Amino acid sequence: MERIFGKPLVTQREIEKRIKEIGTKITADYEGKELLMVCLLKGAYVFFADLVRTIHIPVSVDFMMVSSYGDRTSSSGVVKIISDISSDIKGKDVLIVEDIVDSGLTLDYLYKNLNARKPDSLKICALLNKAERRKYDVPLDYVGFTVPNKFVIGYGLDYQDNYRNLPYIAVLDVSDI
Ligand code: IMP
Ligand code: MG
Repeated sequence: MERIFGKPLVTQREIEKRIKEIGTKITADYEGKELLMVCLLKGAYVFFADLVRTIHIPVSVDFMMVSSYGDRTSSSGVVKIISDISSDIKGKDVLIVEDIVDSGLTLDYLYKNLNARKPDSLKICALLNKAERRKYDVPLDYVGFTVPNKFVIGYGLDYQDNYRNLPYIAVLDVSDI
């Protein structure tokens, strides 16, 4: 039997249901357009793969890796682009897909960075919103779930690069570390 890590916060079934709702909304909002979806690696990769399959308009995908955390559980205050997208986004409708918004530092930086490249539109979709921790006011257009101020893992989210493969979201229990 699979070991349960921490306290399950969002179940597989809840994630699946919410993603379908978000996909339906995105499909309607971008009808008649071609959407470029940008996945923020590594954390958003599981969410991204599930989300794109619920969207029924032409979609192209690109990937970007940024770091703002290092190996700690609090933000380091510096955002670095480790690997940039490979496409030119000028004149395109772009949707950034992120795993979790904490202080908002990462997305504040990225939003400004990508906006400077003159896309036609730029929106943000985040699976989780740790609203209590917000320091930077970033526009979140699509949000899966609001979560409490706890460190969460699973469904792409990690603690020191572990637990990304859990199929649900759990609160990291210090006794697991
Ligand atoms: P922010 O820049 O402070 O908003 O932090 C966002 C980034 O921190 C996310 O992309 C995650 O990689 C990471 N992060 C924040 N909170 C958590 C968490 O509870 N679990 C795992 N990663 C987190
Ligand atoms: Mg991340």
